[in-house]
Amino acid sequence: MTDTTASAAQSSVVASNAAAFEVRPSANPLPAIQRDAALADLKFGTQFTDHMARMQWRKDEGWGDRRVEAYGPLQLDPAAAVLHYAQEIFEGLKAFKWADGSVHLFRPEANAERFNRSAHRLALPQLPVEDFVGSLEALIAADVAWVPGVEESSLYLRPFMFASEAFLGVRPAHVIDYLLIASPVGPYFPGGVKPVSIWVAQGFHRAGPGGTGDAKCGGNYAASLLPQQQAAEHGCQQVLFLDAKNDRYLEELGGMNVFVVRRDGTIETPRLTGTILEGITRSSVIQQLEDDGRKVIEKDITLDEVRAGVEDGDIAEVFACGTAAVVTPVGRLASPTFDVQINGGEAGQVTMGIRQRLTDIQYGRDEDTYGWMRRVA
Ligand code: PLP
Ligand code: COI
Repeated sequence: MTDTTASAAQSSVVASNAAAFEVRPSANPLPAIQRDAALADLKFGTQFTDHMARMQWRKDEGWGDRRVEAYGPLQLDPAAAVLHYAQEIFEGLKAFKWADGSVHLFRPEANAERFNRSAHRLALPQLPVEDFVGSLEALIAADVAWVPGVEESSLYLRPFMFASEAFLGVRPAHVIDYLLIASPVGPYFPGGVKPVSIWVAQGFHRAGPGGTGDAKCGGNYAASLLPQQQAAEHGCQQVLFLDAKNDRYLEELGGMNVFVVRRDGTIETPRLTGTILEGITRSSVIQQLEDDGRKVIEKDITLDEVRAGVEDGDIAEVFACGTAAVVTPVGRLASPTFDVQINGGEAGQVTMGIRQRLTDIQYGRDEDTYGWMRRVA
């Protein structure tokens, strides 16, 4: 498996292909007054910038047609393979505005590498890291005015690729479109940084051994929507999936990884078994916690031990983490058979400490000793 930590340490040496993207400026960018109004009232993923980046892959030609153009609807043949067989993958990462006005991406090379691991699993073509990073740089250059500067805000970037070839046979498509869109965002959970409630999925699993659990493909999220809906019906913001083989071990939430903090300060998170997404936030948090002298154990964790640990106080905190969620405290864990409060339903010290530690680097408040931030504007 690729070591995303090691690759991120080389962030400053990975070249970018940004200059290869032909820029066709939008004829109708949002007037500055409306853009600034949008940037002053941020939600998650509801507003998009003026441009998008794109390129296309053809089996006999490879990647080409790199461009940045006006954001807008796509023209897609009804027989496009993605609409039938879901040959699609995506990524999610953020650009942060620092106090001096400069703009920095967090670990884009790690996302580029995970994109290629997902591409491999979905029989999609590999995308050179320089093209992935180049598309990010080219789009941010065009839409730099859209990077928000208020607290807890960032520009969320969504690269994705899908099978656009029109045919109905089941085989990897010979024409693939890559697109990158951007959305200025505030906190993922509407209440801001407050403890969230989690519902344990009943009778549904996100991924099975040998499936696509460790790929970031749309199909995984489609399968999570019904359990997520059931979580909402029980007053919970996120769903927790258990492993498909034993229905016992914690895997992850619908869109984030999960950690537990023991009373003695030890931190545990489900080990990577091929059915969990290898979160870039997860690996960053593990590294920072270890550098701070904490013991972090990647292991199999049963739901039963978490429930018992929360009840007898051996588990002091639970938190979720991901690009969108950053580090989010979990205040409640519920299922048809139990409903427990964690840390009295309050955000814990370890959770908020690691959130601070991570965001201090992301927002340039602390020195980036890891080489995680890539300046793009
Ligand atoms: N797990 C799932 C299912 C996710 O969708 C995400 C979000 O991308 C994560 C974990 C966390 O990954 P990352 O920290 O790379 O955003
Ligand atoms: C992300 O964190 O980037 C994701 O893709 C997860 C989703 C919940 C928005």
